[in-house]
Amino acid sequence: MYTEERTFVAIKPDAVKRGFIGEIIARFEKRGYKIVGMKMLQVTEELAAKHYAEHLGKPFYPELVKYITSGPIVAMVFQGYKAVQGIRHVLGATDPCEADVGSIRADYGQLKAYNVIHGSDSVESAEREINLYFKPEELCTNYKNMMEIVIESVN
Ligand code: RTP
Ligand code: MG
Repeated sequence: MYTEERTFVAIKPDAVKRGFIGEIIARFEKRGYKIVGMKMLQVTEELAAKHYAEHLGKPFYPELVKYITSGPIVAMVFQGYKAVQGIRHVLGATDPCEADVGSIRADYGQLKAYNVIHGSDSVESAEREINLYFKPEELCTNYKNMMEIVIESVN
């Protein structure tokens, strides 16, 4: 009846340095997404190249790699119903100036090049990115969150 998906989210170095980790995670928790993986790490140039391979050769690529490697990120895996699309909506458009008011990028950002947060753009990208950042044993799916408990209670 409901399609559960997993998606990869990263709080980018600008948001970490500005002290918005807690506020940003709270938005996803309030919406009911289940956190199944979370870690803080420094992205290496090698990892950045794998993550953003699709953008190699584009004019903004060097700045993008410099940005994502400029300090620690918080890497997370969320699970939920239509989580890929739903979380992209919570993030807002790539350019914060075009993002809906109330989305994370609109509320915390100004520039397309420094847009606060990353989220996978498809189920296929999500699986690729989750595997880049997490080992299977680092993901904890064996607990119920409030959204799952609510859905069970009415079925
Ligand atoms: P992301 O992958 O980070 O979730 O962002 P996205 O799907 O909304 O956008 P994408 O096209 O995949 O771009 C990846 C990241 O590259 C930077 N960017 N800068 N200066 C520019 O014109 C430009 N365009 C893209 C952003 O950090 C963007 O999130
Ligand atoms: Mg993208």
